[in-house]
Amino acid sequence: MLPQLGEEQEVEQVVKFTEQGEATRYGNFKGYYGYRDPSQDNRLTCMESQWFNQKDVLDIGCHSGHVTFFIAENFNPKTILGVDIDQQLIHRARQRLLNKIKNYKRTKTTSEPHMQFPLNMRFQQANFVLENDDDLNYITEEYETIIAFSVTKWIHLNFGDDGIKRFFKRIYRALRPGGILLLEPQQWQSYRIKRKMTKQVWDNYRRIEFKPTQFLSYLLSSEVGFQTCHTVATPSNKHKGFERSIFMLIKANSIDTLTYLDTLSDQQPTNLPPSISSFCCFDDDLDKISTAEKIDSSSLAANADQVASLMYTDLSTLNQVQAVQKTE
Ligand SMILES: C[S@@+](CC[C@H](N)C(=O)[O-])C[C@H]1O[C@@H](n2cnc3c(N)ncnc32)[C@H](O)[C@@H]1O
Repeated sequence: MLPQLGEEQEVEQVVKFTEQGEATRYGNFKGYYGYRDPSQDNRLTCMESQWFNQKDVLDIGCHSGHVTFFIAENFNPKTILGVDIDQQLIHRARQRLLNKIKNYKRTKTTSEPHMQFPLNMRFQQANFVLENDDDLNYITEEYETIIAFSVTKWIHLNFGDDGIKRFFKRIYRALRPGGILLLEPQQWQSYRIKRKMTKQVWDNYRRIEFKPTQFLSYLLSSEVGFQTCHTVATPSNKHKGFERSIFMLIKANSIDTLTYLDTLSDQQPTNLPPSISSFCCFDDDLDKISTAEKIDSSSLAANADQVASLMYTDLSTLNQVQAVQKTE
């Protein structure tokens, strides 16, 4: 009988990295909603209008926009941005948005018509994990509500303890005072099965010391700064693995004296470029995507991606999109 190998020896001798590991290492499974049925997504029934109504909202790890569209269609956010590291998924979300815009009929209303769904939506490809902690200084308070559903595991496995901590700090800084984070983290037990996706994931997995059970206390610590946390719900799912708690973390509304004194002694440099707070690491490699999807890259650019770049404008967005259609 062969002796049992420890993980140390395993990596040298027998570890075989998953065939599709490299392509799906970020949890960017193209068929995700094939097994996580979007029509049975009980997370959405726990959402409350007041968290989104006329707010600036960010959905991190939005995949093809399932949660983003639900919020946009049902809860009237002022603006909502979906961001994902995977360009193909963002392209899919933009195509869906484009179709909504094509079918959009202006409704007569006295409120600002340009902020109506779907013109209040945008999708952007980006890695939400900054390259280093110094870049956190460039993040500005832009959102009242941030959603991070089922994304922490992927960030943790790909960017390690430092990456997930930087992710949390960026979220905190991107929230306005009184803003909320809706967080649905995966449990540590579920990391193991994904540890062989790539060599990098494997190495990160073995180095992780900061476990998901420590996330909430870290988020509430002075290193991040959230003021309060409570559990929103643990929505049921026919797949037990998807039954995860959703937490709400709230950023304090006003600066208390201690924090204020702290900021005075730790003034940020004033000669920084205006704002890179939105998103670095854009990847607009349309050719690659269009080859993969067998779509002509020029029509790609002229459609979904153009819509994305015209976001949050007034009704001229609609006119421009319709003009693009006419010229095709
Ligand atoms: C398992 S899916 C969850 C999708 C959606 N949030 C939901 O809960 O239905 C995880 C998503 O996070 C994205 N993702 C992973 N790491 C990311 C990162 N560093 N920055 C932005 N998106 C990321 C993946 O591409 C993938 O679409």
